[in-house]
Amino acid sequence: MNLASYSRPNKKIVIAVDGFSSCGKSTFAKMVAAHMGYIFIDTGAMYRAVTLYAIEHDCVERGILNEERLVGELDNIHISFRFNPERGASDIYINDEWVEGKIRTITVSNLVSAVSAIGEVRARLVALQQEMGRDKGVVMDGRDIGTVVFPNAEMKIFMTADPEVRAERRYKELLAKGEEVCREEIVENIRQRDHLDQTRTISPLRKADDAIVLDNGGMTLEEELEWFQERLREVLGA
Ligand code: DC
Repeated sequence: MNLASYSRPNKKIVIAVDGFSSCGKSTFAKMVAAHMGYIFIDTGAMYRAVTLYAIEHDCVERGILNEERLVGELDNIHISFRFNPERGASDIYINDEWVEGKIRTITVSNLVSAVSAIGEVRARLVALQQEMGRDKGVVMDGRDIGTVVFPNAEMKIFMTADPEVRAERRYKELLAKGEEVCREEIVENIRQRDHLDQTRTISPLRKADDAIVLDNGGMTLEEELEWFQERLREVLGA
């Protein structure tokens, strides 16, 4: 297919990208957003930012989250995004502090499922996400975008890949950032998060009935983009 010949649709839509941890959702969503001229919103970064705040404000004691204390702090947590041209995506800020560089550590990853299982946290972040996507023209990635945040999204994609493939990706990402990590710890973290994400009571990770599945295990980014363009044509009936 000649990608250059593809033209953007005039009508702005919401594109929901959900799926398992470390599936390459953000990379895919960012690429699709750039391609469409849309805003990319990484909702996992929002749950991670709240987790970082919890760690830095005494809501975690000996590795255990104090839910009540965190819920009591929610009014003091203001999350925003600002576009970073170097990354071609928006960086996340808490109360105007740049925290993009601190939210993807294994310490945050180990606690984020507990934080994202709290109803009050979800209610606030979902409301903020709905506000961000109100004018459409967004690609939003997460776990509950097609099921809860934008159940009427015009296009829903559910991403999946083998846990070993996902762990390897996350391992390389962290190594590249200079973090000292153990491969087994990452495999374990991914398995645990898959389990917690799928079994939590509020908004568990599940494929929306009208979502299209993308298993990107052996695919290059260019193939993912071609796949997207074909699906977009089907969705828009073009
Ligand atoms: O996409 P990620 O791995 O950075 O997300 C971090 C965690 O946040 C993930 O374990 C589940 C949670 N999450 C969620 O519950 N709902 C979302 N919409 C996005 C992320």
